[in-house]
Amino acid sequence: MDVVIIGAGGHGRVVLDILLTSKHYHVKGFLDGNKALHGQYVDGYPVLGDVTLLNELRSRGISGAIVAIGDNPTRKFYASVVGNHGIELVNAIHPTAALSHTVEIGSNVVIAAGAMVCPHVKVSDSAILNTGCIVEHECTVGQAAHICPGTKLAGHVTVGPAAFVGIGAVVIQGLTIGQGAVVGAGSVVLRDVPPFTTCVGQPARVVKYRPPAGPAVGQTSASSTGQQRLIGTTA
Ligand SMILES: CC(C)(COP(=O)(O)OP(=O)(O)OC[C@H]1O[C@@H](n2cnc3c(N)ncnc32)[C@H](O)[C@@H]1OP(=O)(O)O)[C@@H](O)C(=O)NCCC(=O)NCCS
Repeated sequence: MDVVIIGAGGHGRVVLDILLTSKHYHVKGFLDGNKALHGQYVDGYPVLGDVTLLNELRSRGISGAIVAIGDNPTRKFYASVVGNHGIELVNAIHPTAALSHTVEIGSNVVIAAGAMVCPHVKVSDSAILNTGCIVEHECTVGQAAHICPGTKLAGHVTVGPAAFVGIGAVVIQGLTIGQGAVVGAGSVVLRDVPPFTTCVGQPARVVKYRPPAGPAVGQTSASSTGQQRLIGTTA
């Protein structure tokens, strides 16, 4: 199947690498809202335009896409945009990731190199299990959540939709990380994390409450991560 990668930033390059290594799909290029990238090449693959090209690409036989945008709500938003164009959302699973045969995986999921995903884990749509993370038995990773590199989730942990568990964090068994919560890098989580809070430290403590925000369609942003560059292109 021919596919495009939506988002030509750092995460897009990681996803390209996974797709090339796994050899399941033919990558035809990137889509990105940053006009300065259009016509340029990222790691040898063209940035074809923005998501307004999806219909045309489908008529040219590109029937798959993956949204490679790091920001969780924005990734979820663009996954729905792709779905509305009748294009299949595909997964990028690195061949060195170790997955139990009992794992349930949604669509638009990224599982990076060296991730270990243990029995009866549920990975929801648009989730990212990043490099070398360990997701132990019977965990649930919510829609558009991001488990960052090297993070360890003990058994029966529930990570809510669009939650972000920072690099190298450890979460002990049975806890819930609430929707939209952020766990700081290297934190050791010993208690449930309420939705839309940021917790940091060892042991992790809540330091911020961040009210939920939808995708900022029509707004511009100073973010350098690439995801906001796409916003507005489909507004
Ligand atoms: C938590 C984080 C998201 C910052 O969130 P923020 O809302 O901008 O928070 P701030 O930077 O204002 O920090 C708030 C407080 O928490 C502290 N803090 C921030 N991150 C921390 C961490 N990981 N561990 C311990 N303390 C931390 C800050 O020093 C600050 O303390 P102070 O109020 O005493 O000065 C960020 O520090 C972090 O850990 N990001 C993870 C990055 C990552 O995993 N990237 C991988 C991508 S694949």
